[in-house]
Amino acid sequence: MSTLTEQEALAQRARSGEYDHLIVTAPGDGVGPDVVAAARRVLDAAGSRFGFRIQWQEIAAGGCAIDAHGVAIREEDLQVADTADAILLGAVGGPQWDNPNASVRPEQALFALRTRYELFANLRPVTILPELYDASPLKSERLVGVDLMMVRELTGGLYFGKPSGEEVTPTGRRAVDTLPYHEDEIRRIAVIAFELARTRSKRLASIDKANVLENSVLWRKTVIEIAKEYPDVALNHLYVDNAAMQLIKAPKDFDVMLAENLFGDILSDEMGAIAGSIGMLPSASLGTAKTGGLYFGLFEPGGGSAPDIAGKGIANPLAQILSVAMMLRFALGEFAAADAIEAAVKKVIEAGLRTGDIWSEGTRKLGTAEMGAAVAEAI
Ligand code: IPM
Ligand code: MG
Repeated sequence: MSTLTEQEALAQRARSGEYDHLIVTAPGDGVGPDVVAAARRVLDAAGSRFGFRIQWQEIAAGGCAIDAHGVAIREEDLQVADTADAILLGAVGGPQWDNPNASVRPEQALFALRTRYELFANLRPVTILPELYDASPLKSERLVGVDLMMVRELTGGLYFGKPSGEEVTPTGRRAVDTLPYHEDEIRRIAVIAFELARTRSKRLASIDKANVLENSVLWRKTVIEIAKEYPDVALNHLYVDNAAMQLIKAPKDFDVMLAENLFGDILSDEMGAIAGSIGMLPSASLGTAKTGGLYFGLFEPGGGSAPDIAGKGIANPLAQILSVAMMLRFALGEFAAADAIEAAVKKVIEAGLRTGDIWSEGTRKLGTAEMGAAVAEAI
């Protein structure tokens, strides 16, 4: 692990043209290290093909950091991440740290990164290759044409609202969480969703619970105000319970979905189920755009650390690899390489290569590293 001074020296080398992109990886726990290793291999291959050089730096985050340093992520490691062009994270958590009463928990690493860089926009796209329809619990005819994008607010709402905690009252224990949103927080995430909708099929579904929650009333009002600037985008509003149902009944009726933090968390796992395996879903967490339209961001697969298969070398690395494609597109501006990685993933799936989670009769089962190698090869 490098010191901060070494890190600054690295950043200096980048400025002087010795390499093009400095990527900080936090492989984390469970299957994280395996899938990050596979994704690194793919990115290096893309670099060779498209003529850019990656400098890699690794930091500890999650349960492994708790074991090594007593905290989910150290300030000095955050300072290393500060100098990066983007952060590639594997997964955090596992049963050995799974105590909700503990004051130090692996997820705190995620929250620290999300708040430090104000990564308020979490994008979770879902497309399903026809070869993988069988992996989904939905009937194939419902999957034709599914192309979803969840835009989840990531730094507000119930996850961070105060007060939050448990107290003892004369009649028993009482716990409270708070759901606050300022209109500015709603506005900035709504703008991202409308802009994305514009580049896609120009349909946006805003999710709320405005029949019950005051917060959702403000959410809906604010989204309607922003919509005036996007007359070309068809906006509709759905209550979150109805959205959960419609998503199963007719996923192709949706394109961009916009939701506050907790609703987006829940619905994006539902989208993972629709896609057949959470091991296929990438994600990008972005802050405010930098000049030139690129973002500093955290890129990670939608799935968790999958402790049941950790260390077995069988996890599906495709979500991590597709997260690298998002990183190239949103943070590094290497658009051709991003397209090439997505095309390579498609190619290996079409060639019948599968990890266990998406395996079906007649296809070839590969381990994590082999799958990474196959995608790198296909670039
Ligand atoms: C996610 C995860 C996290 C979240 C957990 C691990 C805290 O479920 O990124 O969706 O709830 O945000
Ligand atoms: Mg989640």
